[in-house]
Amino acid sequence: MAETGNARADAAREAVVEAALRRLDLDAKARLLSGQDMWSLPALPEIGLASLVMSDGPIGVRGVRWTADDPSVALPSPTALAATWDPELARRAGVLLAQEARRKGVHVLLAPTVNLHRSPLGGRHFEGYSEDPYLTGRIGTGYVTGVQSGGVATTVKHFVANDAETDRFTVDNHVGERALRELYLAPFEAIVAHARPWGVMTAYNQVNGTTMTEHRHLVREVLRGEWGFDGVNVSDWTAARSTVGALTGGLDVAMPGPVTVYGAPLARAVRDGEADESAVDAAVRNVLRLAARVGVLDGAEPVVTEVPEPVDGADLAREIARRAFVLVRNERGALPLTAGATLALIGAAAREARVLGGGSATVFPARIVSPLDALTAALPDGALSYAVGADPDTELAVGSRDLTLRAVCRDAAGDVLGTGTAPGGQIQWLGSDLPAGVRHVALHTVELTGTFTPRESGPHTFGIKGLGAFTLTVGGTTYYDDVQRPSGGDPFAVFFDAPVPRAQVELTAGEPVDVSLTHVVTHPRGVPLKNVIFALAHQGPTRDPDELIAEAAEAARGADTAVVVVATTERVESEGFDRQDLRLPGRQDDLVRAVAAANPRTVVVVNSGSPVELPWRDEVAAVLLSWFPGQEGGAALADVLTGAHEPGGRLPTTWGSLRDAPVTRVVPEHGALAYTEGVFIGYRAWEKAGRTPSYAFGHGLGYTEWTYESLEVEGTTARIRVRNTGARAGREVVQVYLAPGAPDAERPARWLAGFAGAEAGPGESVEVTVDLPRRAFEVWDEKAKAWEFVKGSYEITASRSLTDHRLAATINV
Ligand code: BGC
Repeated sequence: MAETGNARADAAREAVVEAALRRLDLDAKARLLSGQDMWSLPALPEIGLASLVMSDGPIGVRGVRWTADDPSVALPSPTALAATWDPELARRAGVLLAQEARRKGVHVLLAPTVNLHRSPLGGRHFEGYSEDPYLTGRIGTGYVTGVQSGGVATTVKHFVANDAETDRFTVDNHVGERALRELYLAPFEAIVAHARPWGVMTAYNQVNGTTMTEHRHLVREVLRGEWGFDGVNVSDWTAARSTVGALTGGLDVAMPGPVTVYGAPLARAVRDGEADESAVDAAVRNVLRLAARVGVLDGAEPVVTEVPEPVDGADLAREIARRAFVLVRNERGALPLTAGATLALIGAAAREARVLGGGSATVFPARIVSPLDALTAALPDGALSYAVGADPDTELAVGSRDLTLRAVCRDAAGDVLGTGTAPGGQIQWLGSDLPAGVRHVALHTVELTGTFTPRESGPHTFGIKGLGAFTLTVGGTTYYDDVQRPSGGDPFAVFFDAPVPRAQVELTAGEPVDVSLTHVVTHPRGVPLKNVIFALAHQGPTRDPDELIAEAAEAARGADTAVVVVATTERVESEGFDRQDLRLPGRQDDLVRAVAAANPRTVVVVNSGSPVELPWRDEVAAVLLSWFPGQEGGAALADVLTGAHEPGGRLPTTWGSLRDAPVTRVVPEHGALAYTEGVFIGYRAWEKAGRTPSYAFGHGLGYTEWTYESLEVEGTTARIRVRNTGARAGREVVQVYLAPGAPDAERPARWLAGFAGAEAGPGESVEVTVDLPRRAFEVWDEKAKAWEFVKGSYEITASRSLTDHRLAATINV
């Protein structure tokens, strides 16, 4: 019934789309396919089409302004969402994001990222879900379903094989067909099949010699042809480089504008007979269909006419965070904490929580609850002490809370054009997003002016993030008056490059000092968009690292339990570059060892978006992975440490040392990166290499115990009964793996074929049903270019992780 209704509504929208298309001339059509600015497409009032607005994605909706003036709910990192192993929770995250998008006038969310964790070194690892294509597809399906149920489109990205950052604009990834089908394309295919996304974003990189914005085979034949995708294909930002190549390859929209390979060059190419107008029509049809779906094309009924019930963003962020935390070790009942016990909280990240990863995924939350804030509130007075222990930030950082600055915009004559805010001393004005009264034509300089109030006495260092001419004055003395130039060729380097120290000033705690940073605005030739991006960076006085560690160990010795929060920094995990190693930055490993030596009840909270090495893991009582936990991360941590809630996560990716990790190459040679490991990435590769990681895929402890009572298989449906044999209610993630009956060197030893969440009170049992998808038994036959169902016997296990099998059965298919 609903299907018929949907089909009728689809047909009605198609009719409106066709009628609108017929009324457009070539120039208007070409214009519609090209961004008009950083985030939107032009409106075409003549057909009743409003401007389609896009925004990143994936943990929040930034909106069209890159600023803390317009805050967004910040959910935990995608790795965290995947660690919940709960597609329904991902769907609820999507519903919230649609609500955020509507609030900000956004129609298209540039998310989810479903590239796989091929190597732990991948810089955007935190932004993907898992090393497993099935888990990625399930979480992605939940997410897309949720966002679109709120009437907002998604662009599943980055299609395809954008699994690392080194030379990301040009790298040619050589991926065998089997690996492509069974691993990298698989999440996209599953999401297209189960959630019908209204958009896809094609990646910067090449696959097997062709750049993805021009990949006719993968876009036209596979994505649209085989899978039936009927949404919009938008380029990654600046990825489209050829008018005819992109059009032929099936790219619908080139972003960002105002200057792209589409627009006027596209109309010209058609007039010159180089491009086919019917291909332009096909792309316009896709854009108009998207516009109809989200309700910005007059006469078309949007897919969603009644928006879902409002969601409380902070509550949901907190729930996802605690459901995502993975307790990988818990000896002698270290967690939850004993009521009334004293606690030494240690670590820079306990005070300045790192809640999200860097790059285009950045959003600006209205508040951040740090572990220190939340535990201070949750524990009785006097129970908590705090020591910084070690500071992972050994470089200048932007966004200091101690800066109070505003931005003054002047023309060439020095007259003030307007003023704007500069939260934390940062300016990110993209395109026409300028303070009221200011326009690029007249804008000559921007001065950040105000005060800095130090929290500590001693030498304070200031630096400048940004490119171009700057003048930096602190306390009346000018320390820098010169030009900063880019390193390397990445057009986004300004976002990622580390600031250089430009001034060191002796300051006294609590005494404000005047600060001024003036930037002469220039717009480099060839960069289509006019942006103003720079920031004042700061680093406080640094203390002797050994002294800090000794102080923390002393605090730990005097408390019943020590909780050390260790973290990565923005210079370690971000879009734009890959990691060099998996070590925790600074002296944090030394800190953990010193604290563990001082207190046997040491709990380490690992605040990172992706795997880090934990060389001390057997020396501490408990290890809790908190990912990038989003704006409510501290509150969720207090919930879990005090035992108000159990940590619910299971590893979506294997955690191990870099030395043992089987797939680590992310640096191309002569422009190409060969995926020589074929279908063996993640746990598939660890098992093949016969190596034991620190923590296996799927591993995670809660606060209760589970017994697996029965496994019954009928056809390809498995029924598993589990009993909560512990003392408190809990949630178990029942995992089902398949292993071929006869070992087959071409296939992994086993793989995830299904999973289900089971919730039960103490003593209760519950049965879950897991339907094994047909694809779990298939391999891609490169010769036949088709899926082959591999008949025979399989061992099926009901497991707590990849390596903790509780029940097994043999099935023949
Ligand atoms: C990223 C995309 C993002 C886009 C817009 C690109 O650099 O790769 O994921 O959506 O920028 O910010």
